[in-house]
Amino acid sequence: MKIVLATNNAHKLSEFKSCFAQLNVGAEIVSLSEIGFSGDIVEDADSFEGNAYIKAKTICDFSGMISIADDSGLIVDCLSNAPGVYSARYAGENATDRENIDKLLYELSLRPDEAKTARFVCCICVCRPDGEHIFVRGESVGEIINELRGEGTFGYDPVFYYPPLNKTFAEMDSVEKNSVSHRGAAIAELLKNREFFE
Ligand code: IMP
Repeated sequence: MKIVLATNNAHKLSEFKSCFAQLNVGAEIVSLSEIGFSGDIVEDADSFEGNAYIKAKTICDFSGMISIADDSGLIVDCLSNAPGVYSARYAGENATDRENIDKLLYELSLRPDEAKTARFVCCICVCRPDGEHIFVRGESVGEIINELRGEGTFGYDPVFYYPPLNKTFAEMDSVEKNSVSHRGAAIAELLKNREFFE
């Protein structure tokens, strides 16, 4: 079986593929370019669930295939849950990962006495061509550190420190990150609903 992953983010694609392989799921994940989709999807909902649904539904309607979308982000307690659904564009439209991290560290530097606890949230929506859809959610709790550690991943990984492993997400390999990440937790939850794919 082939399932489309509604993202252009190569890191998300590889995390999904490796998670499905680790969890022994037979389905093959295909990308948006493999199904010939090059349009823009406007993610204008105010919740992770809402944006995940917009992406999965758009691609399901386009492809006629089961489609999965992940909407994820970082929630920082002392920033009143920012950047949240705006994680990808915290420092402005088209901001780079580095610009978003710099903005985050700047905002935190204004609050030297506050705890820097944070969590990543991942909401996955799967849409079936018959119109049915399901949601699952995963979270991972850590803290933001004010130096970048590790490289090769994406987003806020270099400043998201995960105390139980004494590493940032960027210092983990993909198997290790999947085993503790919000995305890994959401995918594990998703696979409790295998009958939805049959
Ligand atoms: P989305 O593609 O609209 O879901 O945007 C999610 C944004 O949240 C990304 O651009 C990253 O900035 C951040 N993010 C989500 N998941 C992760 C992760 O696993 N590591 C680092 N940053 C993440």
